Amino acid sequence: MKNKVLVYFGVILVWSCAENDTPTYTQDVAPIIYENCTPCHRSGGAAPFSLTTFQQVNRKKNTILAVTQSGLMPPWPADRNYSHFIGERYLTEDDKQKIKDWIAAGAPIGDTSLLPPLPQYDAYSHIGKPDTTVWFDSILVEGDSRDKFYIATLPVTLSENKYVRAMEFLPNDNNLVHHMNGRLLNYEEGKKASITSGQRILNLEVDEDDYVRQFNALQLANDDGTRPQQINSAVNYLPGVQAQMYPEGIGGFTMNKQSILIADDIHFGPIPQDKWDHSRVNIFFSKTPPKRPIREVMLGTNGASKIIPPLVIPPGEVTAHTTFLKIPEDISILTINPHMHLLGKSFKAYAFTPSQDTIRLIHIPQWDFRWQYFYTFPKMLKIPAGSVIYVEAEYDNTAQNPNNPYNPPREIRERLDNGGAGMRTTDEMLQFIISWLPYEKGDEEVSLDLEVVSD
Ligand code: HEC
Repeated sequence: MKNKVLVYFGVILVWSCAENDTPTYTQDVAPIIYENCTPCHRSGGAAPFSLTTFQQVNRKKNTILAVTQSGLMPPWPADRNYSHFIGERYLTEDDKQKIKDWIAAGAPIGDTSLLPPLPQYDAYSHIGKPDTTVWFDSILVEGDSRDKFYIATLPVTLSENKYVRAMEFLPNDNNLVHHMNGRLLNYEEGKKASITSGQRILNLEVDEDDYVRQFNALQLANDDGTRPQQINSAVNYLPGVQAQMYPEGIGGFTMNKQSILIADDIHFGPIPQDKWDHSRVNIFFSKTPPKRPIREVMLGTNGASKIIPPLVIPPGEVTAHTTFLKIPEDISILTINPHMHLLGKSFKAYAFTPSQDTIRLIHIPQWDFRWQYFYTFPKMLKIPAGSVIYVEAEYDNTAQNPNNPYNPPREIRERLDNGGAGMRTTDEMLQFIISWLPYEKGDEEVSLDLEVVSD
């Protein structure tokens, strides 16, 4: 009897020692998952499955181990040794080790009373309380397990011209919309009799002749055929990325009484069953006109600088291209967006100043078509007058590129004909979009990292 008790205590002793240095779910792993994964891996989140409970994490632990060790998750393609941005998502070596040790130890749950509370995710808006919400027409996304690309339009009528501080795109089911880039067309009073007469949707996978016809059917021009004023990047969306809101007084634009918001383009990921998309846009107005409206410059395809050598990528080859632009005045950069399609392999951008300094902008060593973030610097980044911004990009048109849309590979090039038909994913692009302001003294100290606004 006495012996038995001793043995029993011995077991408890060993067990509790092991618990102290073995990572447990509740104390070690859950905080890592909540911080880095559940923003997307939750119900209504951007990822296809949730990781909000022990059971879900435990069930997927081996894949989680693989994707966290390889750096695939959380997705953040920019090289953090090169430059830094707001909202970087990454695991520290310590985090990775903890996940590894936890799985090696048999993935113990630990003391459930120590489980931290799951963070609250406000499904309605991630940046505050919108002044109004507008809805795109619902789109039936066919369940044929293929990517789909559309242009969708949304005519909006306001009581008067208003100032917009920010717009936020919210898909009702994040698994459907992969990304969208929104432009705003502002119609002057009397220039367009009806903003609602055009088609609301264009399938970008149509053949070329039909593309032009379908694009014209959107009826975006003024009645006299001229183009309305256009605000580029009025709203953008990508899974896991919060809408862009700059400090008060920075950014913003006017939205006319009559306008059309264009999702150009809207990309739906492959799904096995038909589903309806009902996406909406929250609009945050401002009482005062934008003091420092954002300027945008685009290098490369359709932009202000040409691509050298031209973007023609022969089958079976890896090619390197560059494009560069001289900056005539002092500027402050806020946000940058590198853009390539499926053959993209790597991307690098930097500024070279007249005093021979290099200002690093971004390096993406392994391009991933799925994660085309808009990268905002923690503080405005001054680029002095006379600097040259360089972009270096590589493309992989070999059969080894798993994203190659053609097998066997075919020649792929930039296509500028057909009024933008060359924007299709199976064509290539090289773009670098820079959001900037004319430099003002002290800009280097202006933080762009906003806390969530409450009202
Ligand atoms: C920015 C949103 C986002 C974040 C943050 C994120 N994921 Fe994901 N994850 C996705 C999406 C979307 C997919 C679906 C696959 C795809 O589209 O590439 C995915 C897929 C996965 C997969 C399946 C991969 C496969 O090959 O089947 C695992 C496992 C995973 N994520 C784990 C994690 C873990 C662990 C974290 C945190 C350390 C994390 N993810 C953070 C969006 C995210």
